[in-house]
Order: sequence, then C-alpha cells, then structure tokens
Amino acid sequence: MELDLESLPRHVAIIMDGNGRWARQRMRNRFFGHKKGTEAVRSVVTCCRDLGIRYLTLYAFSKENWNRPEREVKALWGLLGKFLKAELPDLIKNEIRFQHIGDDDGIPAFAFERIRTAEIQTAHLGKLVLSLAVNYGGRQEITRAARLFLADAMKNGGYATGQISAESFSHYLYTAGQPDPDLVIRTGGEIRVSNFLLWQIAYAELYFTEILWPDFGKDDLIEALKEFQHRERRFGRTGEQVREHREVSSDCAAETAHIAKARSDDKQRAPSGLSPIPKDN
Ligand code: FPP
Repeated sequence: MELDLESLPRHVAIIMDGNGRWARQRMRNRFFGHKKGTEAVRSVVTCCRDLGIRYLTLYAFSKENWNRPEREVKALWGLLGKFLKAELPDLIKNEIRFQHIGDDDGIPAFAFERIRTAEIQTAHLGKLVLSLAVNYGGRQEITRAARLFLADAMKNGGYATGQISAESFSHYLYTAGQPDPDLVIRTGGEIRVSNFLLWQIAYAELYFTEILWPDFGKDDLIEALKEFQHRERRFGRTGEQVREHREVSSDCAAETAHIAKARSDDKQRAPSGLSPIPKDN
C-alpha cells in the first residue's frame, strides 16, 4: 500500500527508546547509542518536514531520567546542547520552529541557553513545529497546569466550577495551542507510555515497534504512518457512524470538485456573454 499524503497525521509524537541496547549489541557504551540516536532524530525531523507533517514531538529526557548514572545524565545534556547548536542553521533554513516542553528548572545552564536561543531564533517559522520534551513528565505537566489554573482563577477573584472544562484546562499545558498527537510511536519494543503526554494522547493511535531508536529511519516512519492510515479512528462513535460520515464527506468532496470543474469549464467556454456559475453556489 502507498502512503496517502492526503491523510497524514497532523501531529506525530515519538518515544525514542533503545539507544542503550543498540550500543550493547555492538559492545559499545551507552553514550555511543545516544550519539547514534541523534542521527535518527535528524532523519525523522527531515522526513516529517518533507512529508508536510505539521507537528512532531520527541521525548528526549524525562523527569525520571535524572535517576540514571550521573555520567550518562551529563552526557545526554551535552549531546542535547551540541545537537541544538549544530542543527540550528538547518532548522532555520528548513523553516522549522523549535519548542521546548518540560520543566525549565533543573536544566543545566549551557543546555538551557541553547534551548532558549533555538526557541527565539525559530519562533517565526512554521513549516513544522518540533517540540522536544526535555525534563518532561506528563503527571508533572498536569499538576503544574492545575497550579497555574488555580493561581489565575484566584487572581481573578475565584472561579465557578462550571468554568473548568477540558478545553479551558488544556490552555495551561505546555502544548497549549497545538493539536493533540494523532499518532504516538514507541521504538525499542516496550509497550507503555512512560509518563509521556498523558493528557494529550487520550485519542492518539499507538504504534509500538521492536526497532531500536538508532535504527529507526525514514522507511520505518513511513511504515508507522501507513499503519496509522489503516486504523479506524472512532472518537467514541460506532464503526457505522464513522463510515457513514466518511461517505458523506467524500460525497461532499466529489460535489465540490464537480462544481469547481463546472466553473472552470464555464470560464473557458464563455469568455463573454454567459455568466459563470456564481461563486457561492
Ligand atoms: C532511551 O533509550 C533514550 C533516551 C533516554 C534518550 C533519548 C536521547 C536521544 C535519542 C539522543 C539525544 C536526543 C537529542 C534530541 C539530541 P535508552 O537509553 O533507555 O535505551 P535502552 O532501553 O536500550 O537502555
């Protein structure tokens, strides 16, 4: 089956797992795996951008990753800082907006400075929004949003419980303004979400692959996208409702195409005299 470029997910989120095992399989240290992992990051970002996917979110460093050996933690921050410095010109050239999601507090100063610089210098771009989840945890994000929500409400003299809705609450998340992920990919063979975007992935399609992150390339991403296109997304409706809706939508699309063709034929046929089909037909 070919990839249908008309029905790509708007937002893809990826849990990049398996760097350590990839390195161990090659008798190398974990750092080697993470380093190779940055190459996979580069190729997936380029591929998403070229396909026209609008949002890509990558899970690079979780709140829980602080529990790793100090040397590995240091190496990961070093890699991240280097990566951002090296990639910034290409991000700008390719019109990719970079965003950090996660807790600013605790990020080493040099890495934080690179994150901010990349955010500022790409803030006006929009071919692809690349969000990097660093020092990120889904539960922490939700409790932070609750704190901000309450603080705002208190500032404004309290709140009515009716004002609390999923929509109003989501404005306090790091991802405010972004569509929720349609597809979550996890590499490395584990079948779990590991505190990643817990609020936002409520209706996402989940795709798990055994491929270790450093081996995950363009073809693997396309495989995941094809699998996504096979899924029937119901959002609580029945399968019959979804199919009915699809038929109505495709009838509408056919009708719209028919009208557009009639207008263009009409324009070509009647340069004078006959009036074209009115625009709001
Ligand atoms: C999980 O693999 C991966 C991470 C904790 C870090 C992800 C980092 C990268 C892909 C490289 C740096 C990223 C950027 C954006 C510069 P693991 O170490 O848990 O692998 P394992 O499960 O095989 O041990």
